[in-house]
Amino acid sequence: MKTTLQINITKTSKSRLQETDFDNLVFGKSISDHMFVADYKNGEWTDLRIEPYAPLHLMPANSTLHYGQSIFEGMKAYKNEAGEVLLFRADANQKRLNESAVRMCIPEIPAEIFMEGLTTLLDLDRAWIPNKLGHSLYIRPFIFATDDYLGVRPSETYKFMIFTCPVGDYYSKPVSVKVEQKYTRAAEGGTGFAKAAGNYAASLYPALQAQKLGYDQLLWTDGKTHQNIEESGTMNVMFMINDTLITAPTHTGTILKGITRDSVLKIAKEMGYTVEERFLTVSELENALKKGALQEAFGTGTAATIAHIATIHVNGTDYELPAKPSYAFSHQVLKKLDDIKYGKVADTRGWIMKF
Ligand code: COI
Repeated sequence: MKTTLQINITKTSKSRLQETDFDNLVFGKSISDHMFVADYKNGEWTDLRIEPYAPLHLMPANSTLHYGQSIFEGMKAYKNEAGEVLLFRADANQKRLNESAVRMCIPEIPAEIFMEGLTTLLDLDRAWIPNKLGHSLYIRPFIFATDDYLGVRPSETYKFMIFTCPVGDYYSKPVSVKVEQKYTRAAEGGTGFAKAAGNYAASLYPALQAQKLGYDQLLWTDGKTHQNIEESGTMNVMFMINDTLITAPTHTGTILKGITRDSVLKIAKEMGYTVEERFLTVSELENALKKGALQEAFGTGTAATIAHIATIHVNGTDYELPAKPSYAFSHQVLKKLDDIKYGKVADTRGWIMKF
């Protein structure tokens, strides 16, 4: 692979590929052999390198451990029948990482370092990319503060890293969700739009309460009125009501600007569906459930892909959604996305980088 940057590569002497069970992948458990690393010091990103995946050496006063200056991305690479690597919308992830960086006072990553680090890593660990429908290589780029200093201020040093893992489904069956009207994921003016580690930490306790009641995930509502549906903990959410696709808008800064969300909205419009980017209120959702007008509800995310929602708990009642026939929108859009990602149809939107 042609690179213009100096990336030093140290290959592992002991690949873990043979001991990885590709038929029984548990999301996030099997990590590929290598990782990309760059260090930020003296105002620039330097020392670009690929090394065997290994533990990090951190000081106890590392500022990320105390103040959480840490952001990440999630993206995926696929293999087509010819064995070529197909990377889905990597430029969008690179831009979003930098939007998160600005909000969290983290130095932005130049697109060149992100893309060359990523493609060099993927090329080296090509054998880790599954070639089976429903399977892919999940890619986790992240940046975190590394100052060995206990004062509250933006760190002066950081690490940018990328590691990857072969994965299957994040959710192996349709999910049950509970509308959350007590706890808050994100408030206007806060960090909800950023893919900041702390957003996920803050969501764990409320999500655990729902899991104890038997639900897989929460449907978060806005922090001010708790009347508007925002997103779920691991994905954006969409509702098909009377053939109109409704999903929360992103202008409030409280919702993650999902790349799968954006892809689904574009495809839905091309398919001729009416798309409304507006808040669905809890009472609208409840009424639609009572009347049977909610045809489909599903999550969208890189990890979750299209996650069908089977049960919604709202105001003390569990509503079961009807099983989706194969012509349902969510099945169709999943198939259309898979066809693009696995190279079964031509990429007419410039979403795929192939190598
Ligand atoms: C992703 O979809 O890539 C995410 O980062 C969500 C995470 C919960 C796995």
